[in-house]
Amino acid sequence: MYAKAAKIIKSAQRCVAFTGAGISVESGIPPFRGENGLWNKYDPAIFDIQYFHRNTRQSWEVIREIFYDLFGRVQPNIAHYTLAQMEAKGLVLAVITQNVDNLHAEAGSRRIHEFHGSLKKLVCLECKTCYSVSQIDLSTLPPVCLQCGGILKPDVIFFGEAIPEPARTHSFDETSRADCFILIGTTGTVAPANMIPWEAKSNGARIIEINPSPSEYTQSVTDIFLQDKASVAMKKLMKEIER
Ligand code: APR
Repeated sequence: MYAKAAKIIKSAQRCVAFTGAGISVESGIPPFRGENGLWNKYDPAIFDIQYFHRNTRQSWEVIREIFYDLFGRVQPNIAHYTLAQMEAKGLVLAVITQNVDNLHAEAGSRRIHEFHGSLKKLVCLECKTCYSVSQIDLSTLPPVCLQCGGILKPDVIFFGEAIPEPARTHSFDETSRADCFILIGTTGTVAPANMIPWEAKSNGARIIEINPSPSEYTQSVTDIFLQDKASVAMKKLMKEIER
């Protein structure tokens, strides 16, 4: 299987990676669903935009606990670094990610479409001023805008919010031109992101999937299923590519 996948990636004109929470699990970030999933411990309603507006402080307390306390301590893992290496070698042209952890950028990937935004940025709900999280003191919640005093929100997509531009347009544009897709660590359950591999398939792309467990894609769009953890699979894949 790995040899076949490596051959497809090497002969592809435009190979794109599509990543989910699974690629960051080995960095210490739990997935949202399944065993140890965040949604087993926290109510996903906390990430509903209406809930955020009505219960801003409670929502922020959980956001800080899950994301900023945890995310601040994690590093990219081999899978992130290998993707960045593949981009540097011209084997992968871009990463479309559902993740908001910034680990692809920290690993050195350059062309990244953050479909669900990024936790590294905060935005004012009033004047739309954007901040890097490093500029804002999160010890007092909710954090407020230094310009207008408005409430700051993590620049990520809450349930009920539209996908940000230009990430949406760039992601579907990249998908429409891809002839190879590498899916890493996603269940394929959250729309509209979950449509992207289907779009790629309908445009004729070969689909390589990496996941220790089958997903919504495995019996439908996937051509080659590499049933392994991301770091193990990416290391094996790179070895085959360099053979
Ligand atoms: N390597 C690769 N994949 C893994 C690993 C690993 N080490 N560990 C777990 N996985 C897989 C799981 O088998 C599962 O298929 O990662 C997937 C994680 O799925 P989800 O938690 O549903 O994450 P994701 O698909 O990215 O969720 C999509 O849902 O809650 C929203 O906005 C959030 O972007 C997120 C979206």
